[in-house]
Amino acid sequence: MSVVGARPQFVKLAPIAHACERAGVEHIIVHTGQHYDPMLSDVFFEELNIPAPDEHLGVGSGSHGVQTGAMLAAMDDVILKHEPDWVLVYGDTNSTLAAALSAVKLHFPIAHLEAGLRSFNREMPEEINRVLTDHAADLLLAPTEVAAQHLNEEGLSGRTVVVGDVMTDVLYQTRDAVADKPSPIMEEYGFSEGEYSLATIHRPQNTDTKDQLESVLNSLGSVDHPVVILAHPRLAAKAKEHGLEIARGNLRVHAPLAYPDLVASALHARGVITDSGGLQKEAFLLRTPCTTVRPQTEWVETVEMGWNVLVDSGEELVRAASRPRPDDTDVAPYGDGHAADQVVEVLIKNTKNA
Ligand code: UD1
Repeated sequence: MSVVGARPQFVKLAPIAHACERAGVEHIIVHTGQHYDPMLSDVFFEELNIPAPDEHLGVGSGSHGVQTGAMLAAMDDVILKHEPDWVLVYGDTNSTLAAALSAVKLHFPIAHLEAGLRSFNREMPEEINRVLTDHAADLLLAPTEVAAQHLNEEGLSGRTVVVGDVMTDVLYQTRDAVADKPSPIMEEYGFSEGEYSLATIHRPQNTDTKDQLESVLNSLGSVDHPVVILAHPRLAAKAKEHGLEIARGNLRVHAPLAYPDLVASALHARGVITDSGGLQKEAFLLRTPCTTVRPQTEWVETVEMGWNVLVDSGEELVRAASRPRPDDTDVAPYGDGHAADQVVEVLIKNTKNA
């Protein structure tokens, strides 16, 4: 049973769903309803050919306590109804933690995909979600050696298997399908290859106070080439609340994109500027330089290899966004694009009474 609810989880679900089909494994999909806008949810199921969810909890927005609590309550019935061999939870969202808590209390085995990532910033809700989920889970599916090392340091090495990164699977497949076409952002704005940067900003640290959000937007507008920001609902809602226009200077605002359009737009961009976790790594895999508006990253390999730079808003951001490309590399810390088959194999091998 896969439990998902937020946009990055739908991307990770796609290769797992397809690997389950290939292996003939019965796969129940539960959607918590954390993300409900069609452009954050339905379009991912359609474009990535994911079967429709078997269960939809319809939880929606709320404070962390309200949202997580509602999912936790609803998950109990769903787990008892289906009695899964494994509850597979993804990443670090409130949906991840709620499903893990429900399963561990009901004594159903939990596997955590993307286990062991750490920012070591306990003010991020995602950091709390991932630490608690790792400690509740029976099987820790780590994407990288660095993640496995973190789990080892927390005494969890006995439950850890390095499987590679499933986002790499879906990214490579999508890249190969879209590589020859101009990106929708190029077509819409008349940009040529490499003329623009693509931005996304949604983290509470960058959006919740007016000063910080204004500073980030001003910096994006001051970059020396066009920047197109894909407005996550949190960004749109917070900008409205603070009375701020998003577009300014060189910054243009665009609705979120479906996954293949996002991949094409990042592939043909000069750079990516983001506070998203997944997009930092996707930029590296597409060999588009990334500027990350955060003090830490979970994907440290991207920084070590010079493809990602961590910045604060202001001059630092503006300078980093127009830096030259680093030297090319063929290092592959995120696996070879076949992680999902390995995940399913490990799950089958570790199923009790199989
Ligand atoms: C969540 C995850 C984050 C992930 C991100 C990807 C947690 C703690 N955070 O953050 O790790 O990177 O998703 O997008 O789980 N909203 C809509 N429509 C929607 C969904 C949300 O308008 O379909 C609005 C909500 O009303 C709220 C805001 O967006 O104002 C935040 O949504 P929420 O799901 O709580 O967290 P995210 O910030 O999206």
